[in-house]
Amino acid sequence: MDNDIQEVLFDQTSIHDAAVRLGKQITQDYAGERPVVLSVLKGAYLWTADLLREVDLYVDLEFINVSSYHGGVKSTDEITLVTDIGSDIKGRHVLILEDIVDTGQSLLFMKELLAKRGAKSISVATLLDKKEGRKVDITADYVGFDVRNEFVVGYGLDYKEMYRNLPYVGILKKEVYSD
Ligand code: IMP
Ligand code: MG
Repeated sequence: MDNDIQEVLFDQTSIHDAAVRLGKQITQDYAGERPVVLSVLKGAYLWTADLLREVDLYVDLEFINVSSYHGGVKSTDEITLVTDIGSDIKGRHVLILEDIVDTGQSLLFMKELLAKRGAKSISVATLLDKKEGRKVDITADYVGFDVRNEFVVGYGLDYKEMYRNLPYVGILKKEVYSD
């Protein structure tokens, strides 16, 4: 897989440091609360595992799967709910864990869904923030790293379901997806 990567942006050590930094902040900000941590499948699976181990709180862990990419390298405007949350979040503080916020459309979709269901508060902790890609006005509350407008893979992020198990985040070589 390493041969398909043009440049490593965030290695295991820097991702771990980001998890420690954000984990401390989340632990402080939610002191005394028991939030629902909502991990967005599949991309946030490693980020969820690493970040949550740095959070010293009682939490409920839930998963949601929304799809916007449909296998390509560009977001589509149509968001679909693939797998719904397993419990009622009415009256709960919800912390969404995302791998990356790009156009912001999937995040907006989830925030609207949670608000409609009566969440008490909704915050977002994303590993990566691709601010240049934004199409809707939305910001993440906790950001691991800002990332430039390139297609990246690894550490959960995929291209056609590949590279999710790469231990770092890197830019995928153009020739891998442009042929
Ligand atoms: P958004 O709705 O455009 O913000 O897209 C968010 C979702 O698209 C993320 O949760 C990722 O699954 C996927 N995505 C966005 N940018 C990238 C990328 O550079 N590489 C891989 N997946 C991405
Ligand atoms: Mg995702």
